[in-house]
Amino acid sequence: MAAANGALEHGHPDGKSPALPRPVRDLEVKFTKIFINNEWHESKSGKKFATYSPSTLEKICEVEEGDKPDVDKAVEAAQAAFQRGSPWRRLEALGRGRLLHKLADLVERDRAVLATLETMDTGKPFLHAFFIDLEGCIRTLRYFAGWADKIQGKTIPTDDNVVCFTRHEPVGVCGAITPWNFPLLMLVWKLAPALCCGNTVVLKPAEQTPLSALHLGSLIKEAGFPPGVVNIVPGFGPTVGAAISSHPQISKIAFTGSIEVGKLVKEAASRSNLKRVTLELGGKNPCIVCADADLDLAVECAHQGVFFNQGQCCTAASRVFVEEQVYTEFVRRSVEYATRRPVGDPFDLHTEQGPQIDQKQFDKILELIESGKKEGAKLECGGSAMEDRGLFIKPTVFSEVTDTMRIAKEEIFGPVQPILKFKNLEDVIERANSLEYGLTAAVFTKNLDKALKLASALDSGTVWINCYNAIYAQAPFGGFKMSGNGRELGEYALAEYTEVKTVTIKLEDKNP
Ligand code: NAI
Ligand code: MG
Repeated sequence: MAAANGALEHGHPDGKSPALPRPVRDLEVKFTKIFINNEWHESKSGKKFATYSPSTLEKICEVEEGDKPDVDKAVEAAQAAFQRGSPWRRLEALGRGRLLHKLADLVERDRAVLATLETMDTGKPFLHAFFIDLEGCIRTLRYFAGWADKIQGKTIPTDDNVVCFTRHEPVGVCGAITPWNFPLLMLVWKLAPALCCGNTVVLKPAEQTPLSALHLGSLIKEAGFPPGVVNIVPGFGPTVGAAISSHPQISKIAFTGSIEVGKLVKEAASRSNLKRVTLELGGKNPCIVCADADLDLAVECAHQGVFFNQGQCCTAASRVFVEEQVYTEFVRRSVEYATRRPVGDPFDLHTEQGPQIDQKQFDKILELIESGKKEGAKLECGGSAMEDRGLFIKPTVFSEVTDTMRIAKEEIFGPVQPILKFKNLEDVIERANSLEYGLTAAVFTKNLDKALKLASALDSGTVWINCYNAIYAQAPFGGFKMSGNGRELGEYALAEYTEVKTVTIKLEDKNP
C-alpha cells in the first residue's frame, strides 16, 4: 500500500522541483547471506535459492536458504541481545531513538540502491519504489524514533494506601514474516515499533523478494545497533516462517500475507507458547461512489486504488460500488484511464504498471478474469495477458458485476477493476459489509452527513473519504473481521510491542 500519501508530490525545500531520481545501473547485489549478530552467515544446510526478476524472468542471484536451525541461531542471538544488562538493554531510551534516526539517514543515503533492488525483485515501477515504498520506510523509521523516549505508563489512584503505577516494558524477541508486495515497507512497519520499544527481532522476508531486507541488514550494522538486536533469515514459509511462528522463545509475531497462512501462524503461535500475534491479511475493499461525488476525483482515485502496485495491494479498491445515476459515465471514464495506463519495463520512468510477481499470482489473476467472463460480467477492456510479455497483464475493467460473482467476492490481487451498481445507501452498506473481509473502505461524496453515516456504518479498519491509500506512519492501520488482528503504525502499534507491568507500593499508614 502507499504509505505517506502525497509522497509523489514530494518537493524540494527550496520549492524548485528536483531532478527525477534514477535507478542504479548494473547494480551488483552485495548482500545475499543470513544476517545474525551483525554478521553474514551461510545456511546450516548449505542450501541456496534463486530470486528472479518478474520483468525479464531472469535469475538475479542466489540467496542463502535458511531453515529451522538458522532460525534457532537467530533467536539465540536475539535472546542474548535482550538479556538484562546487555548493551541494548542498558541503552537509554533516547539512544534507541538516535539509532533509528541513524538508520533512517542511511536508508535515505541508499534510497536509490534500495529502490533499485525493490524494482529488480518485485517488478514495481522504480519511481513508485523510490517515492512511495522508500518514502514510507523513512517516515516510519523517523516517526517511531521519536516515540523511543516517550513510552510511559500511568500513575493510578486505587482504593488503598498505595502508590500504583504502570511500566511499559518490551516483550522480548519479536518475529516478523512479510510479503512480497511492499517488501521493505512491510518489514519496516514491524521493525521500527519493535525497536523503539526496546525489543529484539528475527525477520523473514518473502522468498520472492529478499534483497532489500538484506541490504537493510547491512545498514543496521552500520548504524551501530548492537549485535543480535536485528536478525534476518531469508527462506521459505513452511520452513523459516513455520519455525518463527512456532518458536517457544519468540514472544510476539507480526505477519502480513494471506488469510490461509495467517491462520497457520496463529495456530502455531497458540500451540507453541501463546505468543502474541498481529495479522494483516487480505481485503476485498468497497469503494463507494455516490451520485453527488466529484466524479473526476472518484474515477481517478478508484483507478489508482485498484491498479496501483499491479493491483497487488491488500487495500486494493476491488469492489467499486457506483450509484446508478452516474454508473454509465463512471464506467466510461474508468475505461479511458485503464486503456491509457502505461504498462511495461518498471525501470522506464514513464511506466505505471509492471509485471505480476510470479507465475502463481499471474495464473490466479487470469483464472479469476475468465470466471468474470463466464459468470456474465461485461468485459470493458483488457481481459488477458500482454502478448509475448511474460508476467504482464492488461489493465482490465469489468462492468455489470454482481455480488455473487467470484470477482466480486475473492481477492484478485491483480490489475482488475470490478464495477458494481447501487441504488441507495442502506443497500450499499449491507452489500459492502457482507464479506468476511474488513480492511479498508472508501467513500466519494460531497455530502457531509452521508460521509459520516458511511464512516460509522462500514465494518473496516480504515475509511477514506474523498481520498485513497492515504496511509500515514502516525495513524493506525489494520483490519476488522478476517482482514486481521491488531494494528500497525501510530501510537496504537506501541501497545502491540510492550507488556504492561503494574507496580504497587504499600505506604505506611501515616502517609496521606
Ligand atoms: P503468503 O501468505 O503465502 O506469503 C506471505 C509470507 O508468509 C511470505 O513470507 C511466506 O514465505 C510466508 N509463509 C508462507 N507459508 C507460511 C507458513 N506455513 N508459515 C509461516 N509463514 C509462511 O502469500 P502468497 O502465497 O505469496 O500470496 C497468496 C495470496 O495472499 C495473494 O494472492 C493475496 O491474495 C494474498 N496476499 C496478501 C498480502 C497482503 O498484503 N495482505 C500480501 C501477499 C499476499
Ligand atoms: Mg503462499
